[in-house]
Amino acid sequence: MIPKKPKILVARAVFPEVLAKLDTHFEVQSNQDDVLWTPEKLAQQLQGKVGVFTTGSQRVDAALLAVCPELKVCANMAVGFNNFDLAAMTAAGVLGTNTPGVLTETTADFGFALLMATARRIAESERFLRAGLWNRWRYDMFAGGEVHGSTLGILGMGRIGQGIAQRGAHGFGMKVIYHNRSRLDEATEAQCKARFVSKDELLAQADHLVLVLPYSESSHHAIGQAELSQMKPTATLINIARGGIVDDAALAVALKNGTIAAAGLDVFEGEPQVHPDLLTVPNVVLTPHIASATQATRLAMAHLAADNLIGFLCRGKALTPLNPEVLSATCR
Ligand code: GLV
Repeated sequence: MIPKKPKILVARAVFPEVLAKLDTHFEVQSNQDDVLWTPEKLAQQLQGKVGVFTTGSQRVDAALLAVCPELKVCANMAVGFNNFDLAAMTAAGVLGTNTPGVLTETTADFGFALLMATARRIAESERFLRAGLWNRWRYDMFAGGEVHGSTLGILGMGRIGQGIAQRGAHGFGMKVIYHNRSRLDEATEAQCKARFVSKDELLAQADHLVLVLPYSESSHHAIGQAELSQMKPTATLINIARGGIVDDAALAVALKNGTIAAAGLDVFEGEPQVHPDLLTVPNVVLTPHIASATQATRLAMAHLAADNLIGFLCRGKALTPLNPEVLSATCR
């Protein structure tokens, strides 16, 4: 008798070739129509499934786990995993995986692109041109902030932060300062030409401050009104980390009243909703959470998430586990 394939759910639309690979190992139910399910609907779809392929938009928490007793693994197609309540997953013996590494350089590229677009007022000036308002050259037209030779501040110095530091230091001759929960070793600091500073010094000194820290309760509103007022009035703020790390309402006020010069945001509190005041201020560049979005990188992320499901469910070993302690614990 042919053994039955394990049942999994792919909770969002994904590359057909990745789905085809999953199909060879599992009985797959997929959401190729990309319907945005409520938590109740997700729980319903998960009945009888041992694995799920998620993106950052499906919350996996104690309430979901309580009604999905057969679930063993959740593979997130994202490096961030704040949609997972990892403690609840560990307590339930459910493995979580993410997709680190494969998106580092692409995301660092985008962080730099957003910094450039923000400092050099690219989006704002393009809107002006498209509106037919360009009728002459002017000495101060869209004069922005200098990038080369300026001070690049990085809050959160993991792989992506280091990638941005390298681009700034080696490509643009920037002076790099950073703040992180823990200081990097000397060799990595030297490679990134980065100097560890306190958060206060980072805020006060950076000409361009890039946020690349993970979201958690402790990083919620890490940049709010108080922090914004510590920054230079000429500074730019770039958030490619997670919505909620910046207090978006406070940022909109700071952009309106000139507390800082400009911001570039790829992530938002409550996205895909965007704070309405951010939509009306000119000195902000807004992108829809696309920092890792190149064809090649998104495909690599999807393959890694799929390989985590295959590795764990077929061989008992995941490539990039978040809570590996469940691997050694008794299966639930
Ligand atoms: C995207 O935001 C990711 O976490 O991969």
